[in-house]
Amino acid sequence: MDRVELNKAKRLKGEFSPPPDKSLSHRAVIFSSLSKGKSIIRNFLKAEDPVSTMNAFRALGVEIDDKGDHIIVNGRGIHGLNEPLNVIDCGNSGTTIRLLSGVLAGNPFFSVLTGDESLRSRPMGRVIIPLKQMGAEIMARAENKYPPLAIQGRQLHRIKYTLPVASAQLKSAILLAGLYADGETEITEPAKSRDHTERMLPAFGAEILVDGLSVRIKGGTELHGMEVQVPGDFSSAAFFIVGALLIKDSEILIRDVGINPTRTGLIGILREMGANIEIRSMKDSTGEPIADIYCKSGTELKAVEITGEKIPALIDEFPILCVAATQASGTTIIRGAEELRIKESDRIRSMATELKKMGAEIEEFKDGLRITGRTELRGATLESYGDHRIAMALSVAAVIAEGKSIIQGVSSVNISFPGFFEILRRLTS
Ligand code: S3P
Repeated sequence: MDRVELNKAKRLKGEFSPPPDKSLSHRAVIFSSLSKGKSIIRNFLKAEDPVSTMNAFRALGVEIDDKGDHIIVNGRGIHGLNEPLNVIDCGNSGTTIRLLSGVLAGNPFFSVLTGDESLRSRPMGRVIIPLKQMGAEIMARAENKYPPLAIQGRQLHRIKYTLPVASAQLKSAILLAGLYADGETEITEPAKSRDHTERMLPAFGAEILVDGLSVRIKGGTELHGMEVQVPGDFSSAAFFIVGALLIKDSEILIRDVGINPTRTGLIGILREMGANIEIRSMKDSTGEPIADIYCKSGTELKAVEITGEKIPALIDEFPILCVAATQASGTTIIRGAEELRIKESDRIRSMATELKKMGAEIEEFKDGLRITGRTELRGATLESYGDHRIAMALSVAAVIAEGKSIIQGVSSVNISFPGFFEILRRLTS
């Protein structure tokens, strides 16, 4: 059954390694597919979203072998993809459909991209507009807003483009299209979004220059295969960091987590709230910093105010941050987070609705939430809206709440964190 029953936990204790990073798993498959020769990807995330990317490249003619603890990609070079024989299903994955659009815009064949009901309601105009400016022909449902997307790739021209929103998916789509363009494409963001593409693509041979909020890529450069070691996913670790902070007598060590500063905004916010979090044994893993994260309960959390420019570095941690805010004394205000309305679900609405069912004091703004704590949460029957991060955040809320909770729609955790409930059960008592 697609539901789980959870009870209040007395403590959360122990060690674990989080699943491989989702964003980096997508990029490793995309970049190695576009490279000449063999790539080896170690610690690839075998969850629904990155598997959608892997299957998409198989449909484009790339041979990808799953060897158990690593995958081998026999890349075909940037001009080596084949026209797909069928529609490509990107499942629930925004990263797949957006980054793939950038690649396909520069490939001289016809392709159609679609996805599940949630993905088919997510905005694609943001990628269609710049890719059309570069010369691709793209059409989409509802006056070019939503998937399915039909793409006829063309020879692309460079652009200088200012993103309307800080989005790594959009930035990466244009960077990938820039690989196919004549000359140098330049992108400027309103705030820094995750920079995994800028870090990893040069390792495959791309010429990329980063200057503050601007990134430039030179078109026409061939990529070559390499070995990639994917770090653990900070966004998956985040549920357990917050869990350990909120449950009395808790202590947790999370090993080999990616701590790229464009991803770890939550740590800064939790420390500002008074949390005790240590970063240990920092090292480098294929251009990305990794470390062990240690944290324990014991400090009372205080409310904070979070504004727009801090949102990109904690974009995927919004649901779990809302849970933390219900346990902080005072009023936490999160603003400038309107992007959260167009994720796998409307995450502002989803969290406000479900935490209210547990007794939380929450007011919704168009671009965020006001959460007044500290509230003793009580168990309830909760809905995850088919959104993996909502399902996991509510599960943490459930183990701090009095009584029993039932969470519906939890198979969505397989999108990014298969094994989430096994780890939660193992660490809680
Ligand atoms: C991602 C970027 C973020 C994030 C998503 C993964 C990526 O989306 O929310 O889960 O891999 O580039 P946006 O860039 O659209 O904010």
